[in-house]
Amino acid sequence: MIEATLWHPVAGSEALGASPLPVRLLSQDLVLWRDDAGRARAFTDRCPHRGTRLSLGRIVQHDGRAALECPYHGWRFGGDGACVLIASQPSFAPPTSHAACAHETQEAHGLVWVRLQPGDTPLPAFEAEADPQLRKLLCGPYDVATGAGRIVENFLDLSHFGFVHDGWLGERAQPQTPGYSVQATPTGFVATGCKAWQPQSNRLSTEGSWVDYRYELTAPFSAVLTKLPQAQEDYRDVIGLFVCPLDEERSRVWFRLAVTDHDSSDDALRAFQHTIFTQDQPVLESQQPKRLPLAGGEVHCATDRSSAAYRRFLSERGIRFGALT
Ligand code: FES
Ligand SMILES: [Fe+2]
Repeated sequence: MIEATLWHPVAGSEALGASPLPVRLLSQDLVLWRDDAGRARAFTDRCPHRGTRLSLGRIVQHDGRAALECPYHGWRFGGDGACVLIASQPSFAPPTSHAACAHETQEAHGLVWVRLQPGDTPLPAFEAEADPQLRKLLCGPYDVATGAGRIVENFLDLSHFGFVHDGWLGERAQPQTPGYSVQATPTGFVATGCKAWQPQSNRLSTEGSWVDYRYELTAPFSAVLTKLPQAQEDYRDVIGLFVCPLDEERSRVWFRLAVTDHDSSDDALRAFQHTIFTQDQPVLESQQPKRLPLAGGEVHCATDRSSAAYRRFLSERGIRFGALT
């Protein structure tokens, strides 16, 4: 499965503390924990001894290093997954066959990322992360009862603003969406020339205006929108969408903000995102089928250029998880 060779976000970095954290990815249960160097570790959430959930266990010190201890018989596993102790047979040196199943991890954009199988696709880019002018903040997670593709497509969709986000990101009286262009990139595509009429394009706006957007698909389940600088402004706001495909029809969503608002509280910035996304969520969860219908069955209009490009991209890359083909 090609999806298993890609990096996926599984938890906010700050959510992974001193205890093992159960997470799910691509219909697999995983346990995350931090070793003594603070490095995130991810194992299949199943003890190789009797199949117990390792996430019910605890982090212990073993020979001066952190290890994950199974709650059932106390077997201990080091950061690389190797079994370092069989508690009932402490003088026995456990062979490699007794190891927990460890997966690769990385931390970036405020998130812990996991790859289940080796691959050569890099982590989804989020260049705004490195811009020192921009303030970074993670929003979420949101658990949504639909396939990951539906969520990405919604994020790329401009023409729902006047209806779903009436009075916030759009207005019912201004439903027209001007044309925009879509160009393929090595990781997906970029949509430029996007414009949306917004009564309140961010928390600080007081009057409506046309806002210029740029959207980029950076991975099958990651996208970045940039609100380009408007007249009399010299800044941009960037929002990354990072979706974890939990199951074919269940997803976990984070937004990474990289914004110029350095004054508002974290809570205020999160509250705005929360308002917007909880407007989207019931619509997303109502869509049938929950898996993105790549084989057809839905009709399109010219405004759906991004959606069409997204579906084409998934089809061409052989992405099937959360899709109907
Ligand atoms: S099931 Fe984990 S130690 Fe026995
Ligand atoms: Fe929306």
